[in-house]
Amino acid sequence: MDRNLALEFVRITEAASLACSKLTGRGDANGADQAAVDAMRKAFEDISIDGTIVIGEGERDEAPMLYIGEKVGIAGPDSPQVDIALDPLEGTNICASGGVGALSVIAVAERGNFLHAPDTYMDKIAVGPKAVGLVSFDNTPEENIRVVAKALDKKIEDMTIVILERERHKELIARVRKLGSRILLIGDGDVSAGISTSWDDTGIDMLLGIGAAPEGVITAAAQKCLGGEFLGKMIWRDEEDKQRALKMGVEDPDKVYQRDDLAKGDVMFCATGVTDGQFLKGVRFLGNQKVLTQSVVMRSKTGTIRFVESEHNMKLKPTFFSGGI
Ligand code: FBP
Repeated sequence: MDRNLALEFVRITEAASLACSKLTGRGDANGADQAAVDAMRKAFEDISIDGTIVIGEGERDEAPMLYIGEKVGIAGPDSPQVDIALDPLEGTNICASGGVGALSVIAVAERGNFLHAPDTYMDKIAVGPKAVGLVSFDNTPEENIRVVAKALDKKIEDMTIVILERERHKELIARVRKLGSRILLIGDGDVSAGISTSWDDTGIDMLLGIGAAPEGVITAAAQKCLGGEFLGKMIWRDEEDKQRALKMGVEDPDKVYQRDDLAKGDVMFCATGVTDGQFLKGVRFLGNQKVLTQSVVMRSKTGTIRFVESEHNMKLKPTFFSGGI
């Protein structure tokens, strides 16, 4: 994959992030998501790739744009054939309520290298580079926390574990509390939380618990670029869910997916903050129609991590917020 593509992709996440940022805190989750989708879809029209969306807004019949299987980019004879996992607005409710950690994200791999994760749940464990190879679904949460604490040279009570605040995590939360670790309960946004485990200064040591499976693939791609760990195991809502996934090509419904089963080969990842998060700042309006975005662009091949601060002059991009660039 051409390394210059990485910076092309950042323009796409910037476009989506700028578009939905106008709706921050305005209580309109669907409107914010739609703004991000429209802008991202339009921005793909300017990039020279033969791209196929494998993780997107949903099945073709339920998502009119950026659906699974949709072709994106201007495909010429020399355009790279890539698979794309994206979420124009990861954390729609976060954006609608002006909370922490909404992102616009795209991960890219050569064709066939992302797991086509079905729209179901996934039990997840994410930890940073110092704890790679140490955690497992065969361990209890307490054992996993202990082993990571040791690797990070932290006391159990100084560990910070992120868990989505959901009824299904009642027992997990109680067990982590009993063990004595700190917990960051989040309302949404386990992609940002999972990636945060790979940056020491976020103070986040582990992500535990069940979130959406497609988001698991996106988090795995980012962790691959950062040298962090990600493990995932599908959690089926019901038998019908499982049977549909088997038809889609999932071979073993009980498989524990390692990071590199979800994101094989060389991957690129880029994200732009929508609201302030653990590792990215959100969109900031400076006045005089200047707007700042912060993005991260990473490649697993080289391990380069670039932070991109962009100042957008909206006087010169008047259609930007309505999906134009
Ligand atoms: P959306 O951006 O699609 O709203 O997803 C937000 C999110 O919190 C993800 O980060 C997480 O994986 C998933 O939803 C959890 O799903 P649920 O809300 O059904 O528990």
